Amino acid sequence: MSIKQEDMNYIYEHLSEVEREKLKDTTVLITGCGGFLGYYFMNFFQTFEQELGIKKVIALDNFMLGNPKWIDVMRKNPLFDIRKFDIITDQISDIPESCEADYIIHMASIASPMFYRQYPIETLDANIWGLRSLLDFYKKRDIKGFLFFSSSELYGDPSPENIPTNEEYRGNVSATGPRACYDESKRFGETMCGLFARKYGMSIGVARPFNNYGPGMKINDKRVPADFAKAVYEGKDITILSSGTPTRTFCYIADSITGYLKVLLYGKYDYFNIGIDKPEISIKELADIYTAAGKEIFGYEGKVIYNISEDKEYLTHNPERRCPDITKAKEKLHYEPSIEVEEGIRRFLLFIKENSEGEFLW
Ligand SMILES: NC(=O)c1ccc[n+]([C@@H]2O[C@H](COP(=O)([O-])OP(=O)(O)OC[C@H]3O[C@@H](n4cnc5c(N)ncnc54)[C@H](O)[C@@H]3O)[C@@H](O)[C@H]2O)c1
Repeated sequence: MSIKQEDMNYIYEHLSEVEREKLKDTTVLITGCGGFLGYYFMNFFQTFEQELGIKKVIALDNFMLGNPKWIDVMRKNPLFDIRKFDIITDQISDIPESCEADYIIHMASIASPMFYRQYPIETLDANIWGLRSLLDFYKKRDIKGFLFFSSSELYGDPSPENIPTNEEYRGNVSATGPRACYDESKRFGETMCGLFARKYGMSIGVARPFNNYGPGMKINDKRVPADFAKAVYEGKDITILSSGTPTRTFCYIADSITGYLKVLLYGKYDYFNIGIDKPEISIKELADIYTAAGKEIFGYEGKVIYNISEDKEYLTHNPERRCPDITKAKEKLHYEPSIEVEEGIRRFLLFIKENSEGEFLW
């Protein structure tokens, strides 16, 4: 069985029967469908279309960073209504079936710091005005759930006593630095979600993702897990563009998507950290894991080297530590991520090997 198929089964099995039942006969509208997380969401809906009884998926993306090949394949499936659509400037009311949507997933926003710094205003607009137009359109409609993708970046660089970070930590964020377009727009987006939930009784779930990686991530995505996968795939040395000491927990995509679906299907307004709480490892340790897995899977022989990024702002306000407290999601959503980083990286590299015709190698 392919890595992707195994992961799809994993996601399905980690949803409860009650959660799966909630998707029956529903229409899902998803923005940002063509990105990293979109790949697994779309594959999940496609793989379990029959079992879940999903009626329709309206999938929107402006494809500002390119049009992935897999999207073109999915266009042939009548389950999907895939459209080039800009959530900032296009009108949701122009899509005839949009008023039939039961679930809305708003993911449109570039997530990779190297790219959102190239498109700061677009990033801010997608998270603020894009979100606002969706909330306005659906506030008086009878929807079952609305999922907004916030970010663990809303915590900024937490002080040591706030690691692991729980949902009530208020953050240590710059309003003007190079990451502000992203961090602050996620924060304001969350404020909007809370206000609309209270005023209109909308079932808005806010997910705060913590460092996802895995299949669907393009090797040129410029986030660290993609950079390291690219080096291994190309047989080059892994280059660390920091001291290598900042630490993170890394959450494999199958665990992350399970968590996001649980937030979507929760049915009430709330906000959740979605990530994995162990192990918290340094970037250098991450590089070593890639080296070992690369050796096993590709016969990789590269080493780990250090350099300075050409992007002067690469490390500005880069958090020293990022580790979630996921107690709330465990208790309220029965969210139990289990794929630790060694296993996840093996799966990511195996996936790249399986798809070496080039689908993600751009
Ligand atoms: N992957 C992570 O680890 C992570 C961490 C924190 C937050 N998030 C959030 O999750 C969401 C998805 O992340 P991802 O990793 O898939 O990001 P990604 O950058 O891979 O994909 C984002 C997609 O949104 C699309 N998009 C951007 N602006 C748009 C607009 N105005 N209209 C329509 N489409 C637009 C892009 O074309 C792209 O296909 C984002 O909101 C991101 O901020 C992800």
